[in-house]
Parts: sequence; C-alpha cells; structure tokens
Amino acid sequence: MLILLVCASAPAHAQGSGGPYVPTPTVIVDELLKLADIKRGEFIIDLGSGDGRIVVTAAKRYGASGYGIDIQPTLVELARENARKEGVSDRVSFVAGDLFASDLSKADVVTVYLLPSTVPKLVPKLLKELRPGARVVSHDYPLEPWVPEKVLSFNFEEKVMISGTTRTVLYRYIVPPRAPGR
Ligand SMILES: C[S@@+](CC[C@H](N)C(=O)[O-])C[C@H]1O[C@@H](n2cnc3c(N)ncnc32)[C@H](O)[C@@H]1O
Repeated sequence: MLILLVCASAPAHAQGSGGPYVPTPTVIVDELLKLADIKRGEFIIDLGSGDGRIVVTAAKRYGASGYGIDIQPTLVELARENARKEGVSDRVSFVAGDLFASDLSKADVVTVYLLPSTVPKLVPKLLKELRPGARVVSHDYPLEPWVPEKVLSFNFEEKVMISGTTRTVLYRYIVPPRAPGR
C-alpha cells in the first residue's frame, strides 16, 4: 500500500519518465553530432545517455569532453566501460540519476532522445541553464513550443526496428541571447 502511494504521488518527471532505453543507431549518431556542430574542446551532455555512444563518439571523433546521465545504473556502468574501451574516460563521465536534476550550465551542446511527452518539459530548464549560443539537438521529437533553428529529415533502415518507419528527424535549437536584466 505504501509503495502504491509513493508511486501515485511521484512527480511527472520521476524515475524513467523520459522513456525506455532505445539506442540511437550509429549512423544517426554521426548525423546528430554533425548537426550539433560539436568542436574540439567543447562540452557535450546527453540527457538519458544509455550506453554512452553519443558522448563517447563526440570525445573520440571530435575531441570533445562530456557527460551523460541516465536513470538506469546498469547503463551508466556500460557507458563507463565503453568510454574505457574507446580510450576517452579521461574526458567523459557518466552518472546515474534523474536528468531533470542535472546541471547543464557547462554544456556547449545538449542531446536528447526521449519521449515526445517529456521533451517539451525540458524547455524551461534548457533555456534557463544553458549559455546563449549553446546548441540542443533532439532526435525525432521537437522541444515544443521552442522553434527549431534547423530541421533535418532522413530515411534510415536502422530505424524500422525501433519505430516501424525509416523516417528520422533531427531538430537543432540555439539558445538565444538573454533579455536585458536577466
Ligand atoms: C531512447 S534512450 C536514448 C539513449 C541514448 N541517448 C541514445 O540516444 O542512444 C532514453 C534513455 O533515457 C533514460 N531515461 C529515461 N528517463 C530518464 C530520467 N528521468 N533521467 C535520466 N535518464 C532517463 C533511459 O533509461 C534511456 O536509457
């Protein structure tokens, strides 16, 4: 009974609210990082980082550093292991926790692949914590009501197993300058 009550009173963004683990196919990781325009020395954060592939690839291929957070500790362990295997553990870290409680202030780039019902809830946090000019790339679901600066559509066979269609959409957002006095 107690457990039921605790679950019933949990906030909307409680544990796992961003959805299940579905890895971004590697071909889409490449497109996503290109669209994010990640550069050497920049800092990337993947919210709901799964096996760490986005942060690890950004570090290995683009010379970035970064951080991933995931609610599932076993995935965090896997991401750390992947970072070790790829020789980038000195530049990336992974933590177990709720992405809504993470600190985004260091990020030049944030990536998300979360439920369509979750991504809009992130918008106030992204706009408050990210520096002006930081980029956000969302895989498949728009961060409404924020208007994307660029949208790319692709067809990838790798997506059929995931979403039943080849269609993939990447949305890029750029944090605007702060209004005077903020
Ligand atoms: C669709 S998968 C994306 C994994 C990875 N970003 C990728 O693109 O390959 C979403 C991930 O978000 C994690 N997740 C869901 N809700 C979360 C939350 N509230 N806090 C942290 N991670 C969460 C899940 O455990 C899952 O690994």
